[in-house]
Amino acid sequence: PDAYCVFGNPIAHSKSPAIHAAFAGQTGEAIVYERRLAPLDGFALAARGFAAEGGKGANVTVPFKLDACALATELTPRAKAAGAVNTLRFDGEEILGDNTDGAGLVADILRNAGVAIRGKRVLLLGAGGAARGVVLPLLQEQPQELFVANRTVATAAKLLEQFQQAGAGDIALRAGGFEQPEGVFDIVINATSASLAGDLPPVPATVFGSHTLALDMMYGAAPTVFMEFAAQQGAQVRDGLGMLVEQAAEAFFVWRGVRPATQDLLALLRGAL
Ligand code: ATR
Repeated sequence: PDAYCVFGNPIAHSKSPAIHAAFAGQTGEAIVYERRLAPLDGFALAARGFAAEGGKGANVTVPFKLDACALATELTPRAKAAGAVNTLRFDGEEILGDNTDGAGLVADILRNAGVAIRGKRVLLLGAGGAARGVVLPLLQEQPQELFVANRTVATAAKLLEQFQQAGAGDIALRAGGFEQPEGVFDIVINATSASLAGDLPPVPATVFGSHTLALDMMYGAAPTVFMEFAAQQGAQVRDGLGMLVEQAAEAFFVWRGVRPATQDLLALLRGAL
């Protein structure tokens, strides 16, 4: 079997080995997939070592997505736009760096939540790594508007700069503070790390309507404060578990050229939270 792994620090609680084992079983692809703890200052060495052992690819999680970006000899456009890599593919001397987080988010919204993005108003909260990772795939779905709101407004403006320069066509690109978005949005995505601290990005309650999809990239046994607040306003809420499974499915596709089904696995993981 071909060998793959996930690099992180910490890595013990990663669900990726279970997810990829399920994909392999389902598709009949002969792969093994393990966890690898890399030292904080030793990602490149660990990744090169895995490739030298015959490893065909790796997923990369916190805190190594920037290191993985630097290690890659070639970047996909979506990895370039994200400035971060969560999927590596080793082809001889070449190391392809990709980022499947945004594609995972988009697949979760379109297919699992059944919500369209084209022509819609999208509000993205946060402008750090998690937010940057999803902007290009979101824009490729042609929303009417993408508003990036962040605690530090300058970071949100900077994030959108590269996309404004590239030309966003008819899509309205806006950046501002949390209090600035006006009116109801169709999709509100929380890409801040505020949920970790139990904080709520202070957006107006009026951004949520009864048809709004509110998605938090975090997940856990209980809903986040963001999900609770959005639900109180009548929004349809969703956590980041679907995105996790879909980014893995996209990585599996990058490596194997086969797209696994995700619905049953998502339900299984949900039941085990
Ligand atoms: P990640 O990789 O999770 O995106 P990051 O790059 O450090 O981590 O970015 C964290 C994001 O969450 C940023 O948008 C940050 O806002 P600032 O740019 O103003 O720092 C946001 N964030 C973190 N804690 C927050 C909080 N308590 N309330 C609101 N936003 C918060």
